[in-house]
Amino acid sequence: MAKTEWKAGNMLYPLPAVLVTSKSGDGVPDVCTVAWCGTVCTNPPMLSISLRPSRKTYENIMATGVFVVNVPGEDLARATDYCGVRSGKNEDKFKAMNLTVETAPHTDCPMLAEAPVSIECKVNKTEELGSHTMFIADVLAVHVEESFVDEQGGFHFSDCRPLVYSHGEYCGLGKSHGTFGWSVRKKKGPSLMKKGRKKRKDYENFH
Ligand SMILES: Cc1cc2nc3c(=O)[nH]c(=O)nc-3n(C[C@H](O)[C@H](O)[C@H](O)COP(=O)(O)O)c2cc1C
Repeated sequence: MAKTEWKAGNMLYPLPAVLVTSKSGDGVPDVCTVAWCGTVCTNPPMLSISLRPSRKTYENIMATGVFVVNVPGEDLARATDYCGVRSGKNEDKFKAMNLTVETAPHTDCPMLAEAPVSIECKVNKTEELGSHTMFIADVLAVHVEESFVDEQGGFHFSDCRPLVYSHGEYCGLGKSHGTFGWSVRKKKGPSLMKKGRKKRKDYENFH
């Protein structure tokens, strides 16, 4: 392989393209697409999103201190793009994209019924970094679509067909290349994720 050096920029892909739901100080809901997001701590569970101050979502989170990260499936690709190019300052994007608002129980925030995963967050720290302000938040609760949970309580995330954002393109997950720890497993067997609660706890503690 031969690499060409490029000037410093954002080139860490793929990322999830999530739909962040929030509400204004006087209770008007909004939804906005965010790709600058990530998991930042296992215990306590924390994640971050980075927003430009010009976003309505930024104003909402500054006013309320809470938001919900909704992970869209591939079926929400159009809504995900739309909510990233139109502002809640000018229109109701839920109505425009036919999205259903539910109320998240721990934050009283709007939450998307159509997203298979919704993560309720409360801002813990705000970091002004430059173009973007990073909201580092505690995860208060996670809501997952029941049809992706098996009888043992295992959640099959990939079955949600989460939408991925890669350098300007929306994609699906593609082919699986193994499960966590497969490179050191002696015998072929079920993945840790499928082995029940104790092993799943081991998996969670490893990250
Ligand atoms: C794929 C995609 C990813 C985006 N990621 C971010 C992001 O991480 N941070 C941000 O401030 N804006 C991001 N945007 C832009 C906002 O979603 C966009 O400005 C939106 O209109 C803001 O909506 P609001 O004003 O209703 O909050 C992204 C847009 C797209 C299409």
